[in-house]
Amino acid sequence: MRAGAVDRRSRLVDSYNEAIVCERCPLAATRNRVVFGAGNADADLMFVGEAPGAEEDRQGLPFVGRAGALLTELLGEIGMTREDVFIANVLMCRPPGNRDPQPLEIESCHPYLLEKIALIEPRVICTLGNFATKLLTQNRAGITRVRGTPQVQELGGRTVFLLPLFHPAAALRTPAMAETLRADVRGLPKLLAQELPSGVAGAGPDRADPEPEPEPALVEPDQLGFFG
Ligand code: URA
Repeated sequence: MRAGAVDRRSRLVDSYNEAIVCERCPLAATRNRVVFGAGNADADLMFVGEAPGAEEDRQGLPFVGRAGALLTELLGEIGMTREDVFIANVLMCRPPGNRDPQPLEIESCHPYLLEKIALIEPRVICTLGNFATKLLTQNRAGITRVRGTPQVQELGGRTVFLLPLFHPAAALRTPAMAETLRADVRGLPKLLAQELPSGVAGAGPDRADPEPEPEPALVEPDQLGFFG
């Protein structure tokens, strides 16, 4: 059963409060800020990138650099804003020098990511690039092979459509990739409207149920204000 919007948001705030003091891996020693993720706690659409870069580490927010601007632009092309979606990463802390995430770091951060998925209950999760795609599909197939084709996955205890996409940072470097990414994003409204396969606990039409709870008027610091 899908949690109500107010309950979901408050549980996400609990998860955030736990995450910002996380010391599960060595990145705790080198980060400036934990980048928990930001956006709408009640989103149908979630993006999962790789890891914070320098600017994200400084601001404590995901995708705030040039790659983030591209993501915002592509969302705009399908009539959506960042406030409509939730954006997270495989890692919440910046790897020094933007090196690749290490297995221990990925493993340490994974429960936080799964918790976010479980709490937000998105219908569609877009994995951005190889790291997020391989982690959430549990498959070694590279992004070039799997991008653009939705998969049905069970994540965070429910069934979702997972759509692998090129990472916006890669798209910025390669114009052909940018066009492919743009075309794949254009398919999102149709995917969002598609019915999830039924028969799996938590999946299905309950997403469309009306939610009677009023939005809480909360005054919160920093990233908390980004939970829609
Ligand atoms: N910014 C992020 O937050 N994540 C990425 O994967 C890249 C840039």
